[in-house]
Amino acid sequence: MADRMTSVRVAPPEAVATPLLVLPWFEGEPVPAWAVEADRRLGGALGRVVEEGDFRGKKDEALLLYPRPGELPAARVLLVGSGRRAEFGPERARRAIGVAVRQAERLGVSELVVALAPWFEAAGPAGAERTAQAAAEAAVLAAWDFRELKTTGDEDRPRAEVRSAALLVDAGHAAAAEAGARIGDVVARGANRARQLAARPGNVATPSHLAEIAREIADRFGLGLTVLDREGIRREGMGALLAVSQGSEEEPRFIALEYRPAGAPAEPLVLIGKGVTFDAGGISLKPAEKMDEMKYDMSGAAAVLGAIEAIAELGWPVGVVGLAPATENLPSGRALKPGDVIPTHLGRTVEVVNTDAEGRLILADALSYARRYRPAAVVDAATLTGACVVALGHHAIGLMGNDEALVAEVREAGERAGERCWPLPLWEEDRSQLDSVVADLKNTGGRPAATITAGWFLREFASGFPWAHLDIAGTAWRDEAPPYLRKGPTGVPVRLFVEWVRGRAVR
Ligand code: BES
Ligand code: MN
Ligand code: ZN
Repeated sequence: MADRMTSVRVAPPEAVATPLLVLPWFEGEPVPAWAVEADRRLGGALGRVVEEGDFRGKKDEALLLYPRPGELPAARVLLVGSGRRAEFGPERARRAIGVAVRQAERLGVSELVVALAPWFEAAGPAGAERTAQAAAEAAVLAAWDFRELKTTGDEDRPRAEVRSAALLVDAGHAAAAEAGARIGDVVARGANRARQLAARPGNVATPSHLAEIAREIADRFGLGLTVLDREGIRREGMGALLAVSQGSEEEPRFIALEYRPAGAPAEPLVLIGKGVTFDAGGISLKPAEKMDEMKYDMSGAAAVLGAIEAIAELGWPVGVVGLAPATENLPSGRALKPGDVIPTHLGRTVEVVNTDAEGRLILADALSYARRYRPAAVVDAATLTGACVVALGHHAIGLMGNDEALVAEVREAGERAGERCWPLPLWEEDRSQLDSVVADLKNTGGRPAATITAGWFLREFASGFPWAHLDIAGTAWRDEAPPYLRKGPTGVPVRLFVEWVRGRAVR
């Protein structure tokens, strides 16, 4: 994982030498107290910009000023809008920081300084740490790019990569700002780890590649790691993971990455992520159009690795285990066929009506494996159903579970983290769509409520512990992204995972 990118500095804005000084602004407001001295040295330029109406401070708005020699030590001043004060929250801070980072890239500036005073004022005493976290998070998320497979430069490439961002605060806020910035920086690097893995194509991010990354993380933080290969998976009795992988030359892996700090409660939290490194659909082959996108069908597993890495770096006193069943889903002469009946780790038999409903199969074995930890709670994340994209689009994670309190807790963690979930019901009535004549259950329930019946399938294997399921099919990858992300993988739900664990660590 990359090194820390953000820092906290105590100084007034008019005293800071930087290629780019970023001043957040609330919509429709005059020059605030904290910028009065900077404005005076600029000969009243800030006041005029606002009075003329050239810059209103609207969300995502930006305006660049060049101080004359001697006016300010900063080479450039960027006003960034954060919308109306009454609507302010962490997401507004993230967006504004994203706008600033994009400007810096275009300008060829690789470091920037952001004054947090206006946001602290609006967020109140309790909000300083959260605001600094959001700012640091956004800087690290916005700076991320995926260029490792390009060998030639391109024309519209930004002039610079942003490498550092300093958060400018007053002495009274320094401690809270540092605490928040540290968390935000770590969490965002965890999310960037997940984004990098999700962006890597199927020939690079194979199941064994995911296992190598898990090894790297385990070595760095001294974590426990178990990796099962095809033979190990067979011996463990994971019939479903084995069945999905049987059509592939590429070896599957089952990854268990364990952060168990001394003194933590005996029952850990378990995070599970779907790790289908390429989903062609198997014999129930997908159409060619957009099939390439199915390289991100391991986004859940990538998020689990990124979250465990972040949690281990933060060192919170709560045990967390990450499980990632990893395999391809390809057609071949040896592949699983529609109608086949397979055994599972839990012992139940499954009639595989459609080999393209593979995610729930491999997750079933992982959920069953999770029992050995006697988990306090289990949350899984999976790019599980196209129906979730249809139902909830690209801004809401589909949320289901077998425990009302856990579902509410996860939902609140998502709200705080800026990765929002929306609940779908698991009502008894929908369960019968999975009834099978030849086996204990079928792996698909047809078109009606397809996201819910997928949830119901998982529920059958989440026995003996509180469990919540996140369908991230619509949110793991974005064609249109907010300013602090880019087109491509979002890192969802790393921020939610870490925030959920944080809530457990302090209670
Ligand atoms: N990985 C896909 C789901 C998916 C689709 C994720 C689009 C992201 C974007 C999953 O394995 C799948 O193929 N699901 C099927 C299930 C169906 C056969 C019951 C689907 O949703 O069509
Ligand atoms: Mn599929
Ligand atoms: Zn899939």
